[in-house]
Amino acid sequence: MPTDHFGEDVAARYDESSTDMFDPAVVDPAVDFLAGLAGQGAALELGIGTGRIALPLARRGVRVHGIDLSEAMVARLRAKPGADRIGVTMGDFATTTVEGRFSLAYLVFNTIGNLTSQDEQVACFQNAAAHLEPGGCFVIEVGVPQLQRLPPGETVRAFALTPTHLGFDEYDTVNQGLISHHYRVEDGRLEASSLPLRYVWPSELDLMARLAGLRLRERWGGWRREPFGADSALHVSVYEHAEGAAS
Ligand SMILES: C[S@@+](CC[C@H](N)C(=O)[O-])C[C@H]1O[C@@H](n2cnc3c(N)ncnc32)[C@H](O)[C@@H]1O
Repeated sequence: MPTDHFGEDVAARYDESSTDMFDPAVVDPAVDFLAGLAGQGAALELGIGTGRIALPLARRGVRVHGIDLSEAMVARLRAKPGADRIGVTMGDFATTTVEGRFSLAYLVFNTIGNLTSQDEQVACFQNAAAHLEPGGCFVIEVGVPQLQRLPPGETVRAFALTPTHLGFDEYDTVNQGLISHHYRVEDGRLEASSLPLRYVWPSELDLMARLAGLRLRERWGGWRREPFGADSALHVSVYEHAEGAAS
């Protein structure tokens, strides 16, 4: 089982520290997008966390099941209204299997990067593909690696600079690794945390999809179907079974 980086201390402040990501202006377009793809079928969220997306998606009438390895994150989900409609299987989403087939599997908020090796990311695609019913889709939302913003020879880039939160990404360009360092002022104390990630290129994800028998159907620059281009900071990519795809 991979290391759990979302233990009690992280889970206790996850919703508060990710306030922007819980804003309806961020959540609603994602839920609209995912609900449209789920249709009448069920949805599987890899890394369901505290239910930021799963709960509003379930409120839209979609049957949602989640996989997560953090007991602490899932405990927060369980404490929220509407969580009784959502099943959760504890385990590594790269390998854990769940009964049933889904019209949609999804992995959002850069969570593919929590798998810190290429092998694990490949396994994740294979696992997602194995859970899809014919015609089903796997959706990934992840940032585009920001290496163009890294001056030659530098390894650290600031991504948050506010009076209460400093954030720095530390790149390991040889191993495609990234450590996100956070320094937050909480109750007058400085709290430091670091999360290891693996950054991954869109084209590399497409190849992982092919290894899993999937192929890219759509790539957008955001949940509102903004065009994906050179300036896109993130992408929302939709994969489908290669044999089910229109040629
Ligand atoms: C950034 S949070 C995202 C949570 C939720 N999807 C959201 O959008 O708010 C990442 C979640 O993925 C879970 N996670 C990370 N790696 C995992 C793995 N290999 N298997 C299962 N869960 C994992 C963490 O425990 C955490 O709940």
